[in-house]
Amino acid sequence: MAELDGAVVGYVKLRRPTDLPSHRHVRQVNGLAVDPAFQRRGVGRALLLAAIDEARRRGAHRLTLQVLGTNPGALALYTGCGFEVEGVRRGEFLLDGEYVDDVLMAVHLGE
Ligand SMILES: CC(C)(COP(=O)(O)OP(=O)(O)OC[C@H]1O[C@@H](n2cnc3c(N)ncnc32)[C@H](O)[C@@H]1OP(=O)(O)O)[C@@H](O)C(=O)NCCC(=O)NCCS
Repeated sequence: MAELDGAVVGYVKLRRPTDLPSHRHVRQVNGLAVDPAFQRRGVGRALLLAAIDEARRRGAHRLTLQVLGTNPGALALYTGCGFEVEGVRRGEFLLDGEYVDDVLMAVHLGE
C-alpha cells in the first residue's frame, strides 16, 4: 500500500499465478491502483517498482501482468518499468459494447 499523511492513496497486489510447483518461479501483479486525486505523482511507479523488488526477494524469475489495450497510461507505466508485451488476446473482453484486447506483459527478474 502507498500512504500519504496516514491515508491510503494506492495499492499493488502480488500473487502466485497458480499453486503448481512448475509455476513457482512466477509472480503476478494482480491489481494496481492509485487514488485519482493522487495520480501522475509517481505513486504508481513506486508501487510497481516495490512489487518488482518484492517478487525478486521472494525468488521469482518472472513477473507477469495483464492490462486492457484501452489503458494507455498503465501500458506506458509498465513499459517504463521494463515490462514487455508477450502476447495479446484480441477482443478478450466485451466492455460497454466494445471488444477490448487483453495485453499480456512480463519482466524478467534474473535467476
Ligand atoms: C495506472 C495507474 C496505476 C498509474 O498510477 P500513477 O500514480 O498515476 O502513475 P505514475 O505517476 O507513477 O506514472 C508513471 C508513468 O506512467 C505513465 N502514465 C501514468 N498515467 C498515465 C496516463 N494517464 N497517461 C499517460 N501516461 C501515464 C507515464 O509514463 C508516467 O510517467 P510521467 O508522469 O513521468 O510521464 C493509475 O492511473 C490508476 O490507478 N489507474 C486506474 C487503475 C488502473 O488502470 N490500474 C492498472 C490496471 S492493469
